[in-house]
Parts: sequence; structure tokens; C-alpha cells
Amino acid sequence: MNFIYKITKRSSTLLALLLIVLLTLCGSTYGQDNHTIAVMGAFSEELSWIKSQVEQPEEQQVMGYNLTTGTVANNDIVLALTGVGKVNAAIVTTLIIEHFQIDGIIFSGVAGGINPDLLPGDIVIGKTTIQHDLGKITPSGIDHFGVRSPFTGVRNPVFFPADSALLNLARVVANQIGLEKIQTSVGLSTPRIIVGTIATGDAFITSTPKKGELRESIKADAVEMEGAAVAQVCYQFDVPCLIIRALSDKSDENAMDDFERFYSIAAKNANRVVLEIIRNL
Ligand code: ADE
Repeated sequence: MNFIYKITKRSSTLLALLLIVLLTLCGSTYGQDNHTIAVMGAFSEELSWIKSQVEQPEEQQVMGYNLTTGTVANNDIVLALTGVGKVNAAIVTTLIIEHFQIDGIIFSGVAGGINPDLLPGDIVIGKTTIQHDLGKITPSGIDHFGVRSPFTGVRNPVFFPADSALLNLARVVANQIGLEKIQTSVGLSTPRIIVGTIATGDAFITSTPKKGELRESIKADAVEMEGAAVAQVCYQFDVPCLIIRALSDKSDENAMDDFERFYSIAAKNANRVVLEIIRNL
């Protein structure tokens, strides 16, 4: 009897240990039941569709900034508008990280296309993001560098990597989701979703030469004005981050007109991918 008791006790200790290891592993790969995810966008249309899908939405203010909290598929959601540009994006990212216990940040928005194969409506999931306007300007162009965290002294990378668990989930979702067709210059096109490089800078690009330079020097697929700033804040505070952008234009001389035509449908498609990721966490 004593022998059986010892065996049972030993197996239950082993079982408990196994459970702890499993839970720890799951915790690092979005395997838990419930998460708190912040979804950020630069202007209201970049969050309007996902906002319509949030359950029990509540408005809240943090240091004068309006946020919406609620739930999606049992996950707690914080929706935050950043405003346009890197500084605005960094301010709101920092506020959110400071105020909430956040498991991850996803930026959802529109971008200009740099990869010549992409059309308005296509989606770029940022495997990496880079600040294309951060570095040393030389006669032959810009030498990019990462700046140091004043706290740790550690130099940031030039390319910020996306969180691998969020990126993997985005890849899975990309294969499952059906997006609305869009009427483009080449006819009715079903948006493609690629995983690539997103370049960020404080300028709206409407120039074919600049577009060529961003493609040549950093192999960018899309350009926008907030993503890598959000990624830098997340990197320095060790918060998982993913940037998702749907193309509103091709960053060329027609970019302003295309932007007006496509930003609304592009913003919605980016929101749809983000929502599907959150549903599958
Ligand atoms: N966001 C959408 N289109 C853009 C562009 N062409 N340049 C920078 N940011 C953008």
C-alpha cells in the first residue's frame, strides 16, 4: 500500500512538473487562453472596421488620449489612435505599454507600395521594419544605423524583427482569409498577402526615384510613417510587436489620388487580417 502511494505521489509530481513546463512554453507562444492586445492605427479609418467588431466597447482616456477597450474572442483589446508620423506613434506606444499589461501590439494601417509586383489593396505583413530616414547622410545616400537605448546602452538593430509567434500566426491567417476584390489599374484584383519589409519615415512618398531608392537600398516592400517607430519602442520595452499594412497607393506621382481612392478598403482589409489573428491567438 505504502509502495503504491509512493509511486502515485512520484507520478503526480512528475505530471505537475510537466504541466509547468508546458504552460511556460505555451505562454511564450500565445498558447494561453486570454491575452491583452493593443491594436494601433494612425487615423480613425485605420481602426474603424475593427472597432465595429469589438465586444463591450468602452471609451477611456490616458493622459488626454482617447482609447477604446473591449474584447474580441475572449481577448482584451485596446484600440489606440496614434496620429501620423514616428513621434506620434512612439508617444502612444509608450503610453499604452506603461498603462496596460500588454501581451502584444499590432499596428494596422495603410502604406505606399515599393515592391513593383504589388498593387493597391495588397497586404504586407512586416517580417522586419526599418526607419528609412534614420542614419548618416553621405554623398552616396544614407548609411542606416540603430540608436542606443539610453537605459541599457544597447544599440538597436537597423531592421526590427517582428515577434515570431505573432508573425507565424499572421502567416497561417493569410492562407485562410478571403479578402474583397478591388478594382485597380489592371482590373478586378484579389488582394495578395505577402510577408516582407516595411520602411518607415516622416514623409509621405510621392516620387518614383525615392521609391526606387527604397527598393534598391533596403529591399522595402512598403513604406509608411509609423511602423518602425512602434517597433523601436516595443523592442526597447520588450513587448511583442507586428506591423500589418495594406497598400493604398504605389508611392509614385499618383500616390495622393490613389490614396484617396483606396485608403478606406485597404484599411479595412488590414483590420480584417488583424482581427483574424486575434481570434486565433
Ligand atoms: N501611407 C500610405 N501611403 C504612403 C506613402 N506613399 N508614403 C508614406 N506613407 C504612406
